[in-house]
Amino acid sequence: MNIKLLNKNISDIKSDVTVEFLTTNELAKNSNLEILNLAGFKAEQDSVCFLHEKAILVCGIDSKTNDDIRSASANMIKTLKKANYTSAKISIISEDSLQGLVEGIVLGAYEYNEYKSQIKEISLKKIFITSNSLDFDTLEENFNSALIVANATCFTRDIVNTTPQDLNPPSFAKLALKLAYENSLDCKILGESELENEKMESMLAVGRASIHDSKLIHLAYRPKNPKKIISLVGKGLTYDSGGLSLKPATSMVTMKMDKAGGCAVLGMIKAVSELKLDIEVHVFVGAVENMIGGDAYKPDDVLVSRSGTTIEVRNTDAEGRLVLADVLSYAQDTVKADYIFDFATLTGACMVALGSYTTGVMGNSKILKHDFLKAGKKSGELVATLPFNKHLKKLLKSEIADISNVASKPYGGAITAGMFLDNFIEDENKDKWLHFDIAGSAYTESPWDCNVHGGTGAGVRFMIHYLKSL
Ligand code: BES
Ligand code: ZN
Ligand code: ZN
Repeated sequence: MNIKLLNKNISDIKSDVTVEFLTTNELAKNSNLEILNLAGFKAEQDSVCFLHEKAILVCGIDSKTNDDIRSASANMIKTLKKANYTSAKISIISEDSLQGLVEGIVLGAYEYNEYKSQIKEISLKKIFITSNSLDFDTLEENFNSALIVANATCFTRDIVNTTPQDLNPPSFAKLALKLAYENSLDCKILGESELENEKMESMLAVGRASIHDSKLIHLAYRPKNPKKIISLVGKGLTYDSGGLSLKPATSMVTMKMDKAGGCAVLGMIKAVSELKLDIEVHVFVGAVENMIGGDAYKPDDVLVSRSGTTIEVRNTDAEGRLVLADVLSYAQDTVKADYIFDFATLTGACMVALGSYTTGVMGNSKILKHDFLKAGKKSGELVATLPFNKHLKKLLKSEIADISNVASKPYGGAITAGMFLDNFIEDENKDKWLHFDIAGSAYTESPWDCNVHGGTGAGVRFMIHYLKSL
């Protein structure tokens, strides 16, 4: 499907269908009011009505904000895809909502068909977005930028949706190498012997029972005179069975998505390099598979992490933090960054706290957290902060090691996980770091907003908004 932005009046463009977005107020004045009334169309947000005889698709919206346009566009494109038209035209509602329109179309039309033996052919080939804006160059720039971000989000979704038999740590590393080649990024992959040299016992323990070698992926985008240097760290559990603290059968399904943090940071560096932002970006992914076996790490083990902090393992299903502890430590020693952000499907507790649509943001810097609340709003992704406190921190005490990998009480589990990670952030970086728990927001089994079944690409859109604001 090809989307084009044209500097023309909508009436000057030939296409099979015209799309109209209408609020309830506008519906009352619409020339097709009578027939729309008969069809029971009330212009409610996300409702659609196809007037086939007139070749018009009418879509209801509550307002002309990016959020409402994005979600209405996603519904619009799903309706169009089911019909047999080859082209459609849409006049932009406002210059401010172009981003929502593009994202709704690209992300709402997304399908992952890798494992389907028969794919339904879609007739729709061309979408024309029209505007006769006086400043068409700026509009076109925004359009191209929204397309890059939406496509990078789909790239992230594709990796998340790939099954664990196809996407394991070595194939994850291969995929990163391919991205590096295509987007002219630097790439370094550390295998198990290098991880041993780095003394990353915590990360290595998690992957020990897997038949696949663990990998640490480091990609770098280095423009000439960068304004800032950013490190993005991702949890890349290509499968999380829970390990010996095995997950119940029903909770294990969907755990291919436990690599979503790693997939998100790859999507981010892809977008940054295609947007040619003048920010140096480093991506670090801990690609590991958490399995069971004779050599699996065990509850009761004590691991010596890369930073020297000893960790008592009380639950092998709290593995993401063990991987991140070492990858964060490596990232901080390898790159002196202005900011360090990690992305992880870290806790079920984050979903309990915020619901399954919202990313949890944690860290020590009020200013940084505030910046991301703003970036979230602008991007249309839902983000909310979860506060650290000293009482929850005490729950991570271990009687036999420096720290336990699980808190002694379950309440506030997303926060205690975030505070566990904080133990591996060096003092000079405390205010430069944020942790994003995307356990709920990274994957969905029912469509919402512009998300369809599977990976959502959570994090990519708001991170690009943040990086552009620097
Ligand atoms: N990958 C899971 C977290 C998760 C759960 C992500 C559901 C997405 C959906 C993580 O490794 C995990 O299992 N965490 C445990 C931690 C607990 C043992 C302290 C959890 O959330 O139950
Ligand atoms: Zn787990
Ligand atoms: Zn996990």
